[in-house]
Amino acid sequence: MKVLVVGGGGREHAIVRKISQSKKVDKIYCAPGNAGIAELAECVNIGAMELDKLAEFAEKNQIDLTVIGMDDPLCAGVVDVFEAKGLRVFGPRKNAAILEGSKAFSKDLMKKYDIPTAAYEVFTSAEDALRYLETASYPTVLKADGLALGKGVLICMNKEEAVEGVKELMTDKKFGTAGDRIVIEEFMTGREVSVLSFVDGKTIKIMTSAQDHKRAKDNDEGLNTGGMGTFSPSPFYTAEVDEFCKKYIYQKTVDAMASEGREFKGIIFFGLMLTEKGPRVLEYNARFGDPETQVVLPRMKNDIVEVFEACIDGTLDKIDIQFEDNAAVCVVLASEGYPEHYEKGKEITGFERFAKEENYFCFHAGTKFQDGKIVTNGGRVLGITAVGKDLFEARANAYKATEWIDFEGKYMRHDIGKAIG
Ligand code: AMP
Ligand code: GLY
Repeated sequence: MKVLVVGGGGREHAIVRKISQSKKVDKIYCAPGNAGIAELAECVNIGAMELDKLAEFAEKNQIDLTVIGMDDPLCAGVVDVFEAKGLRVFGPRKNAAILEGSKAFSKDLMKKYDIPTAAYEVFTSAEDALRYLETASYPTVLKADGLALGKGVLICMNKEEAVEGVKELMTDKKFGTAGDRIVIEEFMTGREVSVLSFVDGKTIKIMTSAQDHKRAKDNDEGLNTGGMGTFSPSPFYTAEVDEFCKKYIYQKTVDAMASEGREFKGIIFFGLMLTEKGPRVLEYNARFGDPETQVVLPRMKNDIVEVFEACIDGTLDKIDIQFEDNAAVCVVLASEGYPEHYEKGKEITGFERFAKEENYFCFHAGTKFQDGKIVTNGGRVLGITAVGKDLFEARANAYKATEWIDFEGKYMRHDIGKAIG
């Protein structure tokens, strides 16, 4: 088989690596890919949002399966474009990707189908939102309706901050049209857990749990980022939590989408908060998590291509998804200054060591080739991942491996997975 993966971050590197282990696959392409992915796949210079070009490439090169890693092309309808040409593609259609693409849609869905989540209101005018804030309780949470690179969520401690937030999202349009509509919701507290799942329209199969560290600095201080590290499994995802979510969240979400005429095929990523009152859905994503994928897929036993195909064909009920009884930790190496101002183009050294060691992975996020060298090309540069028999071992291994790599301005958090013990 020939497989095309769309995207170019650490998540796609982890997906490409997993696909490369499939017995069914002879050749992998990745658009646009990055310097690390280039070791396993032929990188193609087409952007993830160039939907027609991607489909033309797949047609011309007789690609048997395309896997979409990123949210933007999914929400823009890349799956519909591929299907119109009769091409096989893994991911939700546009009318189902809205589960991630519109927070107002997903909140209304949860309310209608009684799926546990925070209480909320939706606003399409700043005036109405400001009036609501007069009597709201604080802290409160403001969310831009549309995609905003994970940065459209504002936790506001008091009315002044919330008024400023409404101005940013709705009047100043900091995230463009994503803020034309906003959700204002109840502030919840508890542990966060990420749960990824495969879905074939009817059946849902849960993967192992993970946890992301979103803040830039140690002890969860600093700005929100795309994710500074992850660990899997989450010890807080107990059998009791699993049972609750299976009963009230996972299958109910899949059935709700089908009932709405929006059959979901692909990945549903459940962002959960484990509150005192039980698990609640914080958000849905319609794709693999980044950097959750970097710790989940190295632990997965299945041939992932068989699972992708079962999702497309509606035969997921026949597949048993299995994970190793071990753990993984991913520490992101970022450029000093991320997520604000940082430099690019710094030479990175030390990759050789990863090729020699089993159970250590260096997933590339923001890298590229320049004059025969690999240089930094983004805020998040690499996801250094290690597997171990338990989280303590995986964590020690991952931090050891961060020392193998060097580049000017190398920055990381030192407490990824530390909360576990
Ligand atoms: P989201 O993109 O919706 O997952 O939100 C980003 C982050 O904001 C989450 O991972 C939480 O840390 C936080 N957050 C979102 N919604 C809430 C809420 N209702 N209460 C408390 N924190 C929240
Ligand atoms: N790690 C969070 C996300 O992928 O949205």
